[in-house]
Amino acid sequence: MEVKFRDVSPERIKTDLLVLPVAERELAQPVIRAVDRLLKGGLSERIKKGKFTGADGSALLHSTNGIVPASYLLLLGMGKERELETDSWRKAAARARKEASGVGATEMVFSLPSEREPAATAGAIIEGATLASYQFNKYRSEAKPFSELRLLTLARPGLKRTAALDRSVRMAQDLMPGVFLARDLVNEPPSTTTPRYLGEQAERHCRGRGLRVEVWGKKKIESMNLAGLLAVNRGSVEEPRFILLRYRPQVRAKKKVALVGKGITFDSGGLSLKPAKSMETMKLDMSGAAAIIGAMSVIDKLSPPVEVKAYIPCTDNLPSGSAQKPGDIIRYLNGKTVEVLNTDAEGRLILADGLALAARERPDCMLNLATLTGACMVALGTEVAGIFGNQQLLVDEVIRCGKEAGEKLWQLPLVKEYRDEIKSSVADIKNIGGSYGGAITAALFLQEFVGDIPWAHLDIAGPAFAEKDLPTSPKGGTGFGVLTLLRFLARVGQDKV
Ligand code: BES
Ligand code: MN
Ligand code: ZN
Repeated sequence: MEVKFRDVSPERIKTDLLVLPVAERELAQPVIRAVDRLLKGGLSERIKKGKFTGADGSALLHSTNGIVPASYLLLLGMGKERELETDSWRKAAARARKEASGVGATEMVFSLPSEREPAATAGAIIEGATLASYQFNKYRSEAKPFSELRLLTLARPGLKRTAALDRSVRMAQDLMPGVFLARDLVNEPPSTTTPRYLGEQAERHCRGRGLRVEVWGKKKIESMNLAGLLAVNRGSVEEPRFILLRYRPQVRAKKKVALVGKGITFDSGGLSLKPAKSMETMKLDMSGAAAIIGAMSVIDKLSPPVEVKAYIPCTDNLPSGSAQKPGDIIRYLNGKTVEVLNTDAEGRLILADGLALAARERPDCMLNLATLTGACMVALGTEVAGIFGNQQLLVDEVIRCGKEAGEKLWQLPLVKEYRDEIKSSVADIKNIGGSYGGAITAALFLQEFVGDIPWAHLDIAGPAFAEKDLPTSPKGGTGFGVLTLLRFLARVGQDKV
């Protein structure tokens, strides 16, 4: 998709579809009046008949019969003016992109709002238009592909090209493939996305882009004593992998950031077997890993002046004669022992290896992404991830990056008093807590392995996978986390954290 800017009123441009975003009861804008004049009052008539007010989510599609240079007009209801945020533009552009496909438009003009600095808005519009076009049709024999949008023009009278605007557009275009890669990795069937496959994909998409990729096999994992990963892998016929990605900037690194991702390629629960219904979507359980691989695959485009090291333990979690059993004890490389009382609480077992390994190198901060608990979904639903951390500045910063990226994060507390819940009678800790606060006890478990490194844990169990179509993502893997991570890495580089 090519992106162009024009500093003329958008109704003067010849195109297939002209998109006019309208805040609630803000129908008196100059562009709308100009279009209405061209149509000799035809638009205001349609608006009246369709009772279009600009309410959030409403839309009005109008064919112009060639009287306006655009073949179709799309009025998009944006909701209340004062509630508009960057993500409103992402969602609006996503809706426009789908309408464009519906009328077979290959060119679209989007009317930009009159902000002083439209860089963030323009970036979000390009992101939304791109994200909405994602499809996973590889296994459908009668796929109906989206019609291609060749040109997106952002227009407004007096629009000035600034460096910030150009960078925002370039980033929006360059970073989207990272989201698509994460979605693809999640959407592939779990017998395709094995630990070995994830390793190969990481090599294929990350190697040689300013990144060093290492994929450890079982022998190396044994010699490194990654006890949690080996314990979870015991039930499987697929070998585990531990993926290490390192990005080094051309300039002297200002900070060192560690990323840790949960790469359970299928979670059956192990011997603590899940019911069939709960297993249906459990290919999603490597979404944390996928988000990190996706983000790292485009990091050279962002080129932040920070060193980034990603640690991604991968295995599936299956029952068999050799599987770990409830009651087994794992001894970790930092000396901690863990009693495994429920083999379905496996994510924390493999993340512990990643966190302990990462913490040894004393990075400036550590982020982990994991589809960790059903409890977090119960608490926050399917569109909001939980975030926990031991340093408020870091948590605040990640939440803020999420907000700009259109990925909602809500902080949950590391309640010290609940630490008792994971005490074991035979080992240092156990891998499950009581019946309540499951997202919190899981986070407290992880905290045992981070030491004093500033750390944030993102429980993405809800938003990693859409069970119905969303504005910017069809049903399936959403790539949640990729854009937040990339924004975060860009900001750490600017000394914001
Ligand atoms: N992968 C699941 C968490 C999950 C559930 C992610 C639903 C996405 C959707 C995780 O490994 C798990 O099974 N957690 C258990 C923990 C429990 C046994 C303490 C859970 O949430 O039930
Ligand atoms: Mn599980
Ligand atoms: Zn899991």
